[in-house]
Amino acid sequence: MIKVSPSLLSADFANLERDIARVSSADYLHVDVMDGAFVPNITIGVPVVQSIRKCTDMFLDVHLMIEKPARYIEAFAKAGADLLSVHLEADHPTGIAQALRLMGQCGVKKAVALRPITKAEAILPYLPELDLVLVMTVEPGFGGQAFMEGQLDTVRKVRALIEQYNPACELEVDGGIGPKTAPLVTAAGANVLVAGSAVYGAADPAAAIAALRG
Ligand code: DX5
Ligand code: ZN
Repeated sequence: MIKVSPSLLSADFANLERDIARVSSADYLHVDVMDGAFVPNITIGVPVVQSIRKCTDMFLDVHLMIEKPARYIEAFAKAGADLLSVHLEADHPTGIAQALRLMGQCGVKKAVALRPITKAEAILPYLPELDLVLVMTVEPGFGGQAFMEGQLDTVRKVRALIEQYNPACELEVDGGIGPKTAPLVTAAGANVLVAGSAVYGAADPAAAIAALRG
C-alpha cells in the first residue's frame, strides 16, 4: 500500500494547527528541519515539533537537514518525533552510526536520507537496522522544485537493496512529487510519498492525498 506524508513546509507556519488538520487523512506528517548550514534555508526546530506533537496524533516523520545530527536526536525524540531521518552527507560514518544508535535508545524509528549526488550503495552499512530510507528527488532546501527524473534509477537501486537485505524497510521519496510523478516513483519501488506543494496547493488536500495513493 502506498503511504502519503504531506510536507508541512508548504503549510502556513502561522496556522500550523489548522493546516495539520487539513491533512489528517494522510498516513504520516512530514516535518522539514533545516539549519541554514546543511541546506541554504532555515525552518523550524525542537520547540515547534513539541507544539506540533500537542495538536496531533499523526505519525511525525521528521526530516533532519542539519549538520552533525547526532547532537539533536534526543531532543527531537523527546519533542515527539516518531521517525527521524538523518542525511548520510551530514556527518562522517561514525556520526551517522551514533545518530542511529541514539534513535534506538530513544525508541524512535530510524531512517537515513540521500541527496541526489549520493549513490544507493551508501545505505548498505546501515540498512539492516533501518525502518526507512529517504531518497531525495530534488536538492534539499526548498519546496516546489521540479522532480529530478534521474533519481528514478536511485529509487530502483535502493528498492533492490531493501528487498535483498531488509524487506520490511520503507522507501520514501521527497521532492517534486505530484499526480504526474507519483506513478513513476511507485513503479520504481517507493512506498511512501512526501508531497508539499501538491497537497497544500490543492483546493482539496484530502482529495490530493487520495489521488497520490493511486
Ligand atoms: C525539501 C523538503 C521537502 C519539500 C517538498 O528540501 O525536504 O519535504 O517540502 O516539497 P514539494 O513536495 O513541494 O517538492
Ligand atoms: Zn523533506
